[in-house]
Amino acid sequence: MADRSLAWLVLAMAAVGSCMSMAVDQAPGPWRHAHATFYGDIKGGETTAGACAYEDVFAKGYGLHTTALSTALFQDGATCGACYELMCYNSTWCLPGAGTIKVTATNFCPPNWSIPSDAGGWCNPPRRHFDLSMPMFLRIAQYRGGIVPVAYRRIPCIRHGGIKFEMGGNNDWTSVLVYNVAGNGEVSAVGVRTTGSQEFTPLKRNWGQLWNWPDYSGHVGQGMSIRVTTSDGMVVYSHNVVPANWQLGQTFEGNQF
Ligand SMILES: *[C@@H]1O[C@H](CO)[C@@H](O)[C@H](O)[C@H]1NC(C)=O
Ligand SMILES: *[C@@H]1O[C@H](CO)[C@@H](O)[C@H](O)[C@H]1NC(C)=O
Repeated sequence: MADRSLAWLVLAMAAVGSCMSMAVDQAPGPWRHAHATFYGDIKGGETTAGACAYEDVFAKGYGLHTTALSTALFQDGATCGACYELMCYNSTWCLPGAGTIKVTATNFCPPNWSIPSDAGGWCNPPRRHFDLSMPMFLRIAQYRGGIVPVAYRRIPCIRHGGIKFEMGGNNDWTSVLVYNVAGNGEVSAVGVRTTGSQEFTPLKRNWGQLWNWPDYSGHVGQGMSIRVTTSDGMVVYSHNVVPANWQLGQTFEGNQF
């Protein structure tokens, strides 16, 4: 039985985990089954940009520790920035003693309806699938394996410094790219209060972690306080994090979960 084997694995992992002090106050989620493949090359080529709008995962601090997610896991970009722990599981292609890898969701693995989901259409719904950066895949499995079964769970994200806000768009409409988010990493809402305003305006997800005003308005010359909410209901305010003289392309660092 798959579940029984997984239960043993989880017990073994728990025994290891109990010896370590947890640096975070949120518990990881339960272990689940999925599969993993890889894309890009050994240096992370092709995995740099993607559907989360991070544009350059190296500049944004995620490096090679990244994965693309199938439709079932990606949830239209809601899980961009979420953190997962994976181990290769029940395959002759698994590297013995490889342990686990920790990755951040930075891209989408699109379905391909012209291939059956059990013969190459690994990212087709309802499959839960991780298309890892090549270096991450090679830490847990042999290259020749191509695709391996994995056990995975959500884990709290460990980040250095505060939440980052990259200002974008143009003079007529303003966007905010939200990244380097700790806690559960999964931003579910962003609100902005511009200087002089009493209220936070809820922004709208444009794509991935790029957010804009619902009316696509521009806010050049306005200072901002930003409220970030994650899907577990946690909220962090960064007061006056963006000065009135902000420039397109500039990044500002706020508070952190
Ligand atoms: C391991 O994988 C094989 C197929 O390769 C499958 O038949 C078997 O049920 C799996 N066992 C567990 C414990 O998942
Ligand atoms: C889908 O799979 C087919 C068959 O392998 C391939 O020719 C096609 O390029 C794929 N489409 C995309 C969008 O990757």
